[in-house]
Amino acid sequence: SSGVRRRPDGEVEVAGVGVAALAADHGTPAYVLDEADFRARARAYRQAFEAAFAAVGTGVDVYYAGKALLTVAVARWARDEGLCVDTASGGELAVALRADVPGAAIGLHGNNKSDAEVLAALDAGVGRIIVDSLVEVQRVADLAAGRGVVVPVMVRVTTGVHAGGHEYISTAHEDQKFGLSVAPAADGGTSPALAALEAVLARPSLRLLGIHSHIGSQILDPSGFEAAARVVLRLRADLAARTGVLVDEVDLGGGYGIAYLPGEEALEPAPVAREVAGSVAAVCAELGTPLPRISVEPGRAIVGPAGLTLYTVGTVKPVTVSDDDATFTRLYVSVDGGMSDNIRPALYGAQYHAEVVGRASGAEPVLARVVGKHCESGDIVVHQVMLPGDVRAGDLLAVAATGAYGRSMASNYNGLTRPPVVAAVDGTSRVLVRRETLDDLLGLDLG
Ligand code: LLP
Repeated sequence: SSGVRRRPDGEVEVAGVGVAALAADHGTPAYVLDEADFRARARAYRQAFEAAFAAVGTGVDVYYAGKALLTVAVARWARDEGLCVDTASGGELAVALRADVPGAAIGLHGNNKSDAEVLAALDAGVGRIIVDSLVEVQRVADLAAGRGVVVPVMVRVTTGVHAGGHEYISTAHEDQKFGLSVAPAADGGTSPALAALEAVLARPSLRLLGIHSHIGSQILDPSGFEAAARVVLRLRADLAARTGVLVDEVDLGGGYGIAYLPGEEALEPAPVAREVAGSVAAVCAELGTPLPRISVEPGRAIVGPAGLTLYTVGTVKPVTVSDDDATFTRLYVSVDGGMSDNIRPALYGAQYHAEVVGRASGAEPVLARVVGKHCESGDIVVHQVMLPGDVRAGDLLAVAATGAYGRSMASNYNGLTRPPVVAAVDGTSRVLVRRETLDDLLGLDLG
């Protein structure tokens, strides 16, 4: 994050707080968030999209995708910076509401929302429920009718555009669970997307707000957003031709990629926003339809780079490795966390960067692998990194860019307690989410 720097004595600080103080005050492992950096990224996304869409003559809402990391304070920061909040479950919705995010500024996603989740959203007066199947159209309509309310909905569609990183996070190709296809049905009839849009129009307890598309995550080539926008805007025009209803809004989802390793490129919000706004305007001009209001849902790009994980090294072990052409030594550096606080390397083969942050070292760098303390050999934190050859037990080690999908995908595997989320700002730190205790773990077990 932009508030991370190495002091002249070699110790690293986050927002003016040294890592030794962070470790002493909060223990390790700990997720450390640079609050000012989070806010600056949230602001940058909002301002970039607002400026780009104002320039082509329409408005935009930026929703922070809470699945990346949602705590009460984080939801407040997003709201303070003028963002709405995208939630993916009743649990995320509850956190947003606890943070006093107004219902109107919240969206609810999910491909299999429970009745209780839908009712909680209706009672909160959410600004939108994104529906994901025909079954759900009817379910949400029935629940809203039962409550005597009319709820704004968007229909999530799949555009056939592939984008982003690993297959598990690339969501808009056809053979997966999300959304309704814009392709004609197998018998050549109406597409599932059009059928769902028309089903929404037929239910008085639903107001068809718009069409939603999310094409994937960790996207570094913005052309996918333009391709998806083209498909969605064409669908909007088709629906208008068939029914006379031109929907007000189009949501283009999240997925803006970040840098995980030194020297990697990230998507910059301003050029992406200009490109997307330009193509939305061009496609609408081609189709002869007025511009919709747009929304986007960045998660990773706002919180990912603003977070790091602080660990303590416990053991160091050189392992001799032989492959086809050489024999070399890899230093296995074990830290006090692992796949329970960051599943991404094991699940997606995700790459990270680590540094020894508590001190300077003049030692020659050696090839190292940072591993956790779980009972699996795939429990890898950083697959490959050069660390000072004198790295040793007690060293503080930081892994960068862990703000997104670290804490939010954390587990208690092997009975580890989940680390705290600590915010650093202006030379002080405070706990946003406390570390779990053994009492938390045992309290759930009723014997
Ligand atoms: N909107 C929708 C509808 C989504 O499904 C997602 C992510 C987002 C927004 C936010 O995407 P972002 O801007 O953060 O890329 N656990 C995976 C990422 C899964 C993303 C799922 N949906 C990972 O750790 O890479």
